[in-house]
Amino acid sequence: MELKTPTQKENEVLVKVHALSVNSWDWDLLRGKPFLARIGGIFKPKYQILGADIAGRVEAIGREVKNLLPGDEVFGDISWCGWGGFAEYVCVHEDALSIKPSSMTYEQAAAIPQAAVLALQGLRDKGQFQDGQKLLINGAGGGVGTFALQIAKLHGAEVTCVDSTGKLEMLKEMGADQVIDYTKEDLVQDGRGYDLILDVVGNRSIFDYKRLLNPKGTYVMVGGTMSLISQILFLGPLISKKERKNFNILVHKPNKQDQISYRSYLWTAE
Ligand SMILES: NC(=O)c1ccc[n+]([C@@H]2O[C@H](COP(=O)([O-])OP(=O)(O)OC[C@H]3O[C@@H](n4cnc5c(N)ncnc54)[C@H](OP(=O)(O)O)[C@@H]3O)[C@@H](O)[C@H]2O)c1
Repeated sequence: MELKTPTQKENEVLVKVHALSVNSWDWDLLRGKPFLARIGGIFKPKYQILGADIAGRVEAIGREVKNLLPGDEVFGDISWCGWGGFAEYVCVHEDALSIKPSSMTYEQAAAIPQAAVLALQGLRDKGQFQDGQKLLINGAGGGVGTFALQIAKLHGAEVTCVDSTGKLEMLKEMGADQVIDYTKEDLVQDGRGYDLILDVVGNRSIFDYKRLLNPKGTYVMVGGTMSLISQILFLGPLISKKERKNFNILVHKPNKQDQISYRSYLWTAE
């Protein structure tokens, strides 16, 4: 469909999109499933043009923009300020965008914002990850998991990764200490205990995850079923009190600072 090039507001910049990544969130909003994806647009989509993770070039700036100039190469998650990255041009609040390092391609930069920030905030903020901990990543071979694996290995974690057969070699090459093929093995029967679980899939019961956690361990749900969300909300506090095992649900906070990968990943080294 041909649309007119949009005009930026005073605090926005006009970006020509050079690359973007498609996340599961785009897919959920496109289909209106699960039902939570309809918040703000029950009968018709709230956003006409999806696309959150963009990398591109600033073409024009609004009068109040302070930190960006025409010609700047930028990237960022624009899900909090209107989406629209699937179009050729999009107007974006300047606070959503970071300068793209010149050593990075547009494609590499567009792969970072949502997946890497979820991984970082899941480990660091909700998980209170400590150097050297034993970590399980369920759904490790996708966007969030591969960032989480790299971050955790930088911090000396022992990492077990769960995913399908075809991704296990890649995960080992990226540093996974153990891998579990979910199509052939049951991670709960595996018998290992973990200090932290980062769960992208969220397809088990809270009792399975409780069994996998070491004493004082923490479970962080990045994605998963409504049933597990309810269990965490209603049973999580009771289990925490009785067994001192914590259950948290990550709520994505797009964050300009966190999306500047190499600085954020080394958060304890700064
Ligand atoms: N918390 C928040 O605020 C927030 C915000 C945005 C998105 N999200 C969530 O983030 C998640 C998207 O993460 P992502 O981009 O990393 O997804 P992704 O790239 O699709 O990766 C998911 C991985 O999990 C694997 N997998 C599928 N079923 C599995 C199972 N039963 N056991 C283990 N692994 C399994 C997939 O492998 P195969 O396909 O080969 O099976 C895939 O490698 C979604 O759940 C989404 O809802 C959360």
